[in-house]
Amino acid sequence: MNKKITITSIKKSKGNTPLVMITAYDALFAKLLEPYADMILVGDSLNMSFAGKPDTLSSTMEQMLYHTNAVCAGANNSFVICDMPFGTYTDENIALKNAIRVFQETNADSVKIEGGEDKSHIVKHLVDNGIAVCGHIGLLPQSVRSEGGYKVKGKTTAEELQLIRDAQAIEAAGAFCIVIEGVKADVARVVANSVKVPLVGIGAGVDVDGQVLVFSDMLGLFEEFTPKFVKKYMDGASLVKEAVSNYADEVKTKKFPTEEYTY
Ligand code: KIV
Repeated sequence: MNKKITITSIKKSKGNTPLVMITAYDALFAKLLEPYADMILVGDSLNMSFAGKPDTLSSTMEQMLYHTNAVCAGANNSFVICDMPFGTYTDENIALKNAIRVFQETNADSVKIEGGEDKSHIVKHLVDNGIAVCGHIGLLPQSVRSEGGYKVKGKTTAEELQLIRDAQAIEAAGAFCIVIEGVKADVARVVANSVKVPLVGIGAGVDVDGQVLVFSDMLGLFEEFTPKFVKKYMDGASLVKEAVSNYADEVKTKKFPTEEYTY
């Protein structure tokens, strides 16, 4: 059994071996992924990959609590981060009320909230009240409707300077780690060098302090679309289809169940 990573060792990991973060949404996969991941993120991406919605915005607290409980049950030796869904941290008090639910109703170790300088007061309020917070800067999936799409960040000097301010504000507010998404690699490197906490990248190049991928993307299970930054480590969709097609054929031709599978 691997030893659960602590906030202290996550913070100290900067400059050492990159951190491995991966999403999981249920006990079954959490258990399979646990031995290889430093941190498991119960991302609100589950609203797209598992609930079939077009974006993450309709994700709810109840949904995140349910899935976080399942992940904690399957991987009770993992450092688990629960994503705070859209609309659940609109001010400090609402954020604290919802984050307390995560800590009281699940065994999650931390919450994650999207936003930079503009959300740093919320991160600070949570941290001041005993909630560990992972930040999330750069491309913010919860802003997809207000921004009119998923826009890569760091393309202009103004954006680069804003990303540095975002990372520094979230660090100063007390976050132990920051996800940086959809940022040009050379800019992500500069942002990573501007803070002491680890920056875990997704679509942010290799020169950050760790990587996170959505597990159903990297296993090739999610077929709707594939962002440029997703490497498929297996063709899961084809494997599932082949297996289920074989099962269906064998049921129809009465090849299954044979005596081996019969009482
Ligand atoms: O919801 C999620 O899975 C995430 C990752 C993309 C970092 O926030």
